[in-house]
Amino acid sequence: MYLCTRNLFHFAQNLYCMNKQPWLIFFLIGILSILVSCSQQNSSVNYRIGVSQCSDDAWRTKLNEEMQRELLFHPEISLEVRSADDDNERQAADIDYFINEKVDLLIVSPNEAAVLTPAVSKAYDAGIPVIVADRKVTGDKYTAFIGGDNLAVGKLMAQSLTMMLPEGGKVFELLGLPGSTPAELRHEGFIQGLGDKIENYEIIQAVGNWFRDQGEHITDSLRRLHPDVKMSLGQNDQMAIGAYQAAERLLPGNDIFIMGVDGLTGHGNGVEAIINNQIDASAVYATGGELIIQTAVKILQGKPFERNTALSTYMVDPLNAPLMNNIYQEVLREVDTVQMLKGRIDYFWHQHNLEQALLYT
Ligand code: FRU
Repeated sequence: MYLCTRNLFHFAQNLYCMNKQPWLIFFLIGILSILVSCSQQNSSVNYRIGVSQCSDDAWRTKLNEEMQRELLFHPEISLEVRSADDDNERQAADIDYFINEKVDLLIVSPNEAAVLTPAVSKAYDAGIPVIVADRKVTGDKYTAFIGGDNLAVGKLMAQSLTMMLPEGGKVFELLGLPGSTPAELRHEGFIQGLGDKIENYEIIQAVGNWFRDQGEHITDSLRRLHPDVKMSLGQNDQMAIGAYQAAERLLPGNDIFIMGVDGLTGHGNGVEAIINNQIDASAVYATGGELIIQTAVKILQGKPFERNTALSTYMVDPLNAPLMNNIYQEVLREVDTVQMLKGRIDYFWHQHNLEQALLYT
């Protein structure tokens, strides 16, 4: 900034010698200095990160917000998020878009593993570092993976099932999107977790594709066929809440156990559903947005980073759900304060740059 202004000053001196119009020249310098100072904030953006999300829902909104928040510490990075709305072709096109844009790093949560692996590999082969988040690809053409431990999630569900329903019985397993790795791994973990005890249970599977309305619809049909069902396991909270809605309609005040996955706070999500006695438990599926950005920064700066990170899980139940909710409200307040402070700091820096420019002028 100082050098810039000094150069401008020399330039003005020359002009002054040439045409003896001091007020015009100083006016010019003033305008230029202000322009230089104003452009300083934008000139600091050095890295562009593209984010390709497979879907758009509360879980992913939380993930995107965490990433944006972490970027408050990195004004040199800009983020562009695209959501494919659960459409494989659209997500492949989004990834192509980021390749053409030559982003410095790509973060991708692939809708279905096998179908989107070629698109992700293409980005990797083009020399773009790729962080795969939450859902996996097949093979190892990626720079880093960060996501919840879905095997552990499945095992935790099995453990809770055997505790809630030790006598055994009929169980609905509402599966997420086939071909997406969390759906496959949660099921695998569930079967592994049951071990020999699997003999006590009759597991009836149905696909709900991660959606609440589909969870509701299939539970409605299944319950008519199996009125003696004891428990409904949704591979995410939205399907579990859908199962509750269907069960409640068929048999108000019904006593079947319902469990989900995600353990999200906020309106319409799992923790609220537990507090409202709609579902009984939910296995937390961590989003890890901050860690994703921290890893992206390390990769961009050429620093060492963890290649595979599995985020741990735990069960939310009626005992700890209110506590989680309180912590969430507190975090929201803190986030507001931090964002407000950041806004003020940006404002003061802007003022400072402007004043400095005027002073030099
Ligand atoms: C959101 C979501 C979550 C689920 C995760 C699995 O799109 O469906 O509810 O736990 O994806 O990737």
